[in-house]
Amino acid sequence: MSEDIQKRVAQLSADLHHHNYMYHVRNEPVITDAEYNRLFRELQELEAQHPEFAQADSPTQRVGSDLSGDFPKVRHPAPILSLSNAFDESDLVNWEERNRRLLPADAQLQYVLQPKLDGLAIVITYEDGVLVRAATRGNGEFGDDVTANVKTIRSVPLRIPVDPERGAAPERLVVRGEILFHNEAFLELNREQEAQGLPAYVNARNTASGSLKQKDSRETAKRKLTAYVYAIVDSDGLDLESEWETLQFLRDMGFNVITEAALCEDLADVTGRLPDWEARRDDLPFEIDGMVLKVDSFAQTSELGVVGKDPRGAIAYKFPAEEATTKLVGLTIGVGRTGKVTPTAQLEPVFIGGVTVSNASLHNYEQVAALDIRQGDRVIVKRSGDVIPYVIGPVVGARDGSESAIRPPESCPFCETSLIQPAGAVDWFCPNPKCPERVMRTLEFFVSRVAMDIEGMGPQTIAALIEVGLIEDEADIFNLDAEPLLALEGFAEKKVENLLASIETAKTRSFEQVLTSLGIDGIGSTVAGLLTDNFSSMQNLLDAAAEIQSASESFAQTAEPLLPVEPTDDAATDRLLSRLRHPLTELVPRYLDAADLGDRLARLLKPLHLSADHLSALQDALSRLIAASRPLHSIEGLGPVLVENIVSWFTDDHNQSVLAKMLEAGVNMRAEEKILSGSGLAGKTFVLTGAMSVPRGEIKALVEANGGKVTGSVSKKTSYVVAGDAPGSKVDKALKIKVPVISEDELRALIAL
Ligand code: IVH
Repeated sequence: MSEDIQKRVAQLSADLHHHNYMYHVRNEPVITDAEYNRLFRELQELEAQHPEFAQADSPTQRVGSDLSGDFPKVRHPAPILSLSNAFDESDLVNWEERNRRLLPADAQLQYVLQPKLDGLAIVITYEDGVLVRAATRGNGEFGDDVTANVKTIRSVPLRIPVDPERGAAPERLVVRGEILFHNEAFLELNREQEAQGLPAYVNARNTASGSLKQKDSRETAKRKLTAYVYAIVDSDGLDLESEWETLQFLRDMGFNVITEAALCEDLADVTGRLPDWEARRDDLPFEIDGMVLKVDSFAQTSELGVVGKDPRGAIAYKFPAEEATTKLVGLTIGVGRTGKVTPTAQLEPVFIGGVTVSNASLHNYEQVAALDIRQGDRVIVKRSGDVIPYVIGPVVGARDGSESAIRPPESCPFCETSLIQPAGAVDWFCPNPKCPERVMRTLEFFVSRVAMDIEGMGPQTIAALIEVGLIEDEADIFNLDAEPLLALEGFAEKKVENLLASIETAKTRSFEQVLTSLGIDGIGSTVAGLLTDNFSSMQNLLDAAAEIQSASESFAQTAEPLLPVEPTDDAATDRLLSRLRHPLTELVPRYLDAADLGDRLARLLKPLHLSADHLSALQDALSRLIAASRPLHSIEGLGPVLVENIVSWFTDDHNQSVLAKMLEAGVNMRAEEKILSGSGLAGKTFVLTGAMSVPRGEIKALVEANGGKVTGSVSKKTSYVVAGDAPGSKVDKALKIKVPVISEDELRALIAL
């Protein structure tokens, strides 16, 4: 018996160590928080009953660590404590009872109740009101020094008090808070990823963690993180008596403090509010995983003291997890309009956070392989807010050997064409533009509200029209006649009349809307807007793409004979060869503004020992490709992958014929003339960098409305670089080549002149 217990303790310790590592170091948890907590509690209980079996390095003996080795370590001025958990009301009642036993019999216990933010703990030090250091929680004693990265977060004051009227900063103040993504910022980040042709981030908390641990703080600055501050770890010259006062003080100093904390009279007041909070959980702008309940009075808190790593005066009330485990019973394969193949997990139905979930996104096969998810696995499924439920990973320990690997299918399940995986892509694609599933999805999107908005043309109508052969592609819609439509089942005169009228109206949609409707991979309305700003017609875009294509081909013709056919045994040389084989994504963006292209190319290609003639031929070919690509590559917000998508879409025969038919049928293919509100900036070229007071697109529109031009990269031709917060390397470049750098206010002043 006691041997079994000893074994169980050892097994639990080993498992928890593993899960700690997967969660904190690898950012890839394999069990749910609830399951972790269950294991942790079981171990805690066994150790309490049998202290002789407790191992010195038991996971219960230490605080989890997020230390990562890449950052200098800093010692926290006081241990960064954690919280014990309560899972239901009775846990809270027991907690209060235990506390009462440690306090005078007549003690009045008031509580501060606030949301438990699902982010990363951060410890920030201010000396004489100036932010001097920010560190992660690490192992509770030492943390990673991430000062430069935290300084990029706009809700973190660099100096306190933010408003000098609000009192004076203490000599030293160390605060604790949480860093996270607001849901909207996380969605936006994923929209940008998609626009760049990059895979979406799966989990907001892990992405926030990754963002904070960037080596280059400019990368952190690009992510719109938010910080909330909720406690004081240490201070000099402060005299606060309660949590409630502390929150007020932090607010006065200008910290972002959750406005909805409540001071509760007693525990009944607290528990009365919990259901309401739980119901509101999905409506909050950020993710929370419970509520934090703290004894308000500091005198009482310090009397209660600390047990292990948890202060007795505070507890986390965890909401039921929005995660659950269930069995992955099968897979469905979807093919989207771009041909992208997406696997979806079919699950044994499971109840998560009030909803029955029976399928969940697996994102893509690369992710499936990376997480080693197998057919028949027990998997952890998460749902949060509005996001489609997704599979976090397998429960490896639950395998019985009957599970089988999941591999991408070799051919399209709808048209049997062999699937392809473009170089560098995570997704697999059906390359057949006539694939019935792709055509259906393309048309569905094309007529939808966000695209051409053709009323009366739902999926059923489209399917019927395809069925009888009236339409094969988007353009055919514009050539529909009344007669064959009337012959269809369910198409009465009025219905046909209305449908034809809405098709007619759709011909006049804006150029931007037409571009969006084409459903080109990565080109949503934002990118379509960027293209419309820079190209005045479809023909311009077709010409630009053709020019790039032809320059790419002639670069390949020049380069290919000079390159070894077989891979070399040197990784660096292979990388170089791969760059030369993908000049549009690998070379053009790097050398777009190189004043000394010849020298730089010679340096890059040195390992290939090319002759001077060959070098100069390559330089000419690259110059031509750069010149051809400039109109696309210099558009800020258009990454190399998108440029490649655009070129390949517009040089594709099928797409070209669809566009030609649409033009012929009278669909609008030209941008509207821009209306100028002034000409104060005429002849001037601006480059924008850093975060402005409004989205950068608005500043760009403002410049253009006043006759100026906005380009993506700094050169001698740039009149001004406009620098916002946390500007990038463009400012360094401007200073180097003596281009004036101005602020957003100065730009506005120029316009007002
Ligand atoms: S107070 C000593 N308040 O939850 C008490 N923690 O599970 C310090 N957390 O490590 C914690 N929101 O990172 C507190 N409003 C809040 C919180 C909060 C999130 C995190 C914190 C802590 C973890 C404990």
